[in-house]
Amino acid sequence: MLVLAQLTALALLLPYCLASPVASSSASLPGSTSRVAGLNAVAKASGKLYFGTATNANEFQDDPVYGAIINDTRQFGQISPANAMKWEFTEPNPGNFTFEDGDIIRDLARNNGQLLRGHNCVWYMQLPDWIANGTFTYHEMINIVENHCGTLVGHYKGEMYSWDVINESLNDDGSFRENVFFNATGPDYIPAALRAARAADPHAKLYINDYGIEGRGNKTTAIQNLVRKLKSEGVPIDGIGIQSHLTVGQLPTDLAENFQDFGRLGAEIGIEFAITEMDMRILGNVTAEVLEQQKAAYETVVDACHAVPECVGVTVWDFTDKYGWITDGHADIWDDDLQKKPAYDGVVLGF
Ligand SMILES: *[C@@H]1O[C@H](CO)[C@@H](O)[C@H](O)[C@H]1NC(C)=O
Ligand SMILES: *[C@@H]1O[C@H](CO)[C@@H](O)[C@H](O)[C@H]1NC(C)=O
Ligand SMILES: *[C@@H]1O[C@H](CO)[C@@H](O)[C@H](O)[C@H]1NC(C)=O
Ligand SMILES: *[C@@H]1O[C@H](CO)[C@@H](O)[C@H](O)[C@H]1NC(C)=O
Ligand SMILES: *[C@@H]1O[C@H](CO)[C@@H](O)[C@H](O)[C@H]1NC(C)=O
Ligand SMILES: *[C@@H]1O[C@H](CO)[C@@H](O)[C@H](O)[C@H]1NC(C)=O
Ligand SMILES: *[C@@H]1O[C@H](CO)[C@@H](O)[C@H](O)[C@H]1NC(C)=O
Repeated sequence: MLVLAQLTALALLLPYCLASPVASSSASLPGSTSRVAGLNAVAKASGKLYFGTATNANEFQDDPVYGAIINDTRQFGQISPANAMKWEFTEPNPGNFTFEDGDIIRDLARNNGQLLRGHNCVWYMQLPDWIANGTFTYHEMINIVENHCGTLVGHYKGEMYSWDVINESLNDDGSFRENVFFNATGPDYIPAALRAARAADPHAKLYINDYGIEGRGNKTTAIQNLVRKLKSEGVPIDGIGIQSHLTVGQLPTDLAENFQDFGRLGAEIGIEFAITEMDMRILGNVTAEVLEQQKAAYETVVDACHAVPECVGVTVWDFTDKYGWITDGHADIWDDDLQKKPAYDGVVLGF
């Protein structure tokens, strides 16, 4: 058995070694079997709920190599719809909801037995014109938000592990973003969306999700204070999503301490957090050296989550450079040819 396992491990490693421009460093891994086990398997073995990825339907429908990887639950235990559940697609006209695209993603996760993170109720971008260009009174906007979140979350009732109910409500300095929702209601659209989501699916964990909160700073403090305040007012809130769109060579130096802060807050007020949209952009040319730096950066971020029990899982914002939204940054863990990069080993090491 042992010999067979070792041979299998070798066979799986071999194509990677040949394809990689970098000398494989799997000798330094905790055992090459963990590389073979897969990212979700390693995450779960280390006490997390999942390792997951965002995806769009055309990627797994049209690309069987991609499809086989995303279907492999040893790699991915959780799926986020990259675009399919955003407002412009789900309610293109007032009160006219369409879930066909979202349902395709839901069906993939359901068939594979993968968790789903719903994505998202309220975000100031990718809005249909009727909202983006409209002017609304306070009550009209509260009704619009409640109806959208309630209907969207209700459609997927019982099927979502969690929902990003609010995305990017804060400016970089920590103040509220003056978007179309805020301009009509002030910050009141936030509790309205969360309450409507809870009423529509009492079992889904409700998250506030944002970027630029990976290290300590004013925005990080502001989101922690916002969540603390919502919680103290009895507003349903279960988690904070740390997007983690990051750049090689520019990780916040206090990222690990910051994750500890989130863990302490979570333990104190009873919320969890997660890495929800991770990728690691490379600036400049891709060399063997920079791919090793990218691997180390992935390891650092995953390890920061690993170290804190309140961090429940890690999602990458697609797993391959072939489809990642960063088209020139080689930010993902599989390359354009759907081969594992050194970054893959960084994730394994982080867990
Ligand atoms: C992936 O899984 C889906 C859902 O079960 C299935 O329809 C599809 O054919 C699978 N793709 C591949 C490449 O195995
Ligand atoms: C709803 O939107 C779809 C397109 O998404 C359109 O075909 C349909 O006519 C719309 N229905 C109403 C009642 O607006
Ligand atoms: C939040 O906004 C970012 C844009 O910075 C986008 O990439 C992402 O899809 C959004 N996430 C959610 C959960 O809506
Ligand atoms: C909404 O505004 C955008 C520009 O902000 C414009 O391109 C679009 O045509 C407008 N749509 C409507 C229906 O007015
Ligand atoms: C919101 O209000 C601010 C300040 O009046 C304005 O600058 C901004 O354009 C408004 N945004 C939207 C989306 O209406
Ligand atoms: C953070 O906020 C404080 C005031 O609360 C301000 O003095 C400081 O400049 C801010 N820092 C940044 C980086 O914006
Ligand atoms: C990137 O590669 C190109 C082509 O090999 C080279 O001309 C350029 O100087 C490189 N840039 C950097 C910053 O190394």
